Amino acid sequence: MYSSKQLLQMVEEAIAALPLEREPQKLYAPIRYVLSLGGKRIRPVLMLMAYNLYRDDVKPCLMPAVGLEVFHNFTLLHDDFMDKAEVRRGKMCVHRKWDDNTAILSGDNMLVLAFQYMMQCDKEKMPAVMQLFTKTAVEIDEGQQYDIDFETRDDVTEAEYIEMIRLKTSVLLACALQIGATLAGASEEEAQTLYRYGECLGLAFQLQDDFLDVYGNPEVFGKKIGGDILCDKKTFMLINALLHASDEDRAELQRWVGCKDCDPEEKIKAVTTLYTKIGVDQMAKERMNAYYVEAEACLNKVNLPEERKQMLRGIALELMGRQK
Ligand code: IPE
Ligand code: IPE
Ligand code: MG
Ligand code: MG
Ligand code: MG
Repeated sequence: MYSSKQLLQMVEEAIAALPLEREPQKLYAPIRYVLSLGGKRIRPVLMLMAYNLYRDDVKPCLMPAVGLEVFHNFTLLHDDFMDKAEVRRGKMCVHRKWDDNTAILSGDNMLVLAFQYMMQCDKEKMPAVMQLFTKTAVEIDEGQQYDIDFETRDDVTEAEYIEMIRLKTSVLLACALQIGATLAGASEEEAQTLYRYGECLGLAFQLQDDFLDVYGNPEVFGKKIGGDILCDKKTFMLINALLHASDEDRAELQRWVGCKDCDPEEKIKAVTTLYTKIGVDQMAKERMNAYYVEAEACLNKVNLPEERKQMLRGIALELMGRQK
């Protein structure tokens, strides 16, 4: 069994070894840039861990794992453009350091590279792997579209929000785990149990991301705090704040939401104060925990000796308390 540190190192080395010193420079420099900024590498590590549940040597799973990470980084280039973000991983976003066209085209190129890398897997398993990967990529677009649509709606329900984050975020973690298990030769049933495990982890993961977008430390989180508030993102916290506020607080919150020409820092401060007063920070934590418990229940169903599952339990726990 590999430790998560060892797996992370393997992923970093494989990414650093990608043949990206290519022309034209304006296309590949931003790709090298974003891939060199690190990030948690949670998706490839999860894929390798799922593979490692069943097999000792994880090398045959390394290129698909890298493919998934490159895919994830492609979504970030486009997401930052769409979300008007300026900082990612503590550094300038590609569309700011270069320009919008660069984020679009370098992002597109990464999407295609991701497919090339993903295909470098066991030939027999490739159709199943690519079917899941393409389905996941389509779902992420659907989730991203809902996320944008919700910015200008004021009647988004909690159920709609959960489905949106399932699509934009959870399915990629789930896909990582299922591909790892499938490539390792797990039964279809167990691969699907791991998929659900990843879905639950992913829901908790996005809830934490939304939480940190309000309450995180920008130095550690690496993104602007309050970005979601400025975009009027319909997060778990905003939806529940509107639902549970006193009439007076709700009226104040509604004045801020949708207000495009108010002072950005004032808006962030006022909305954050209301969130804390209404207690939605605590509600988000409780919901995260519920998904964590469901994830654990899925892992319990995986029919392997406990010591093989320890690695996943450890990383799930780490994700729950993450600050970045
Ligand atoms: C950011 O993903 C996008 C979300 C789905 C919240 P990560 O939080 O995994 O970002 P990196 O790759 O570690 O920077
Ligand atoms: C990320 O959602 C989802 C995808 C990139 C597909 P966010 O917009 O919340 O991610 P961050 O906060 O910018 O990383
Ligand atoms: Mg977004
Ligand atoms: Mg974003
Ligand atoms: Mg976010």
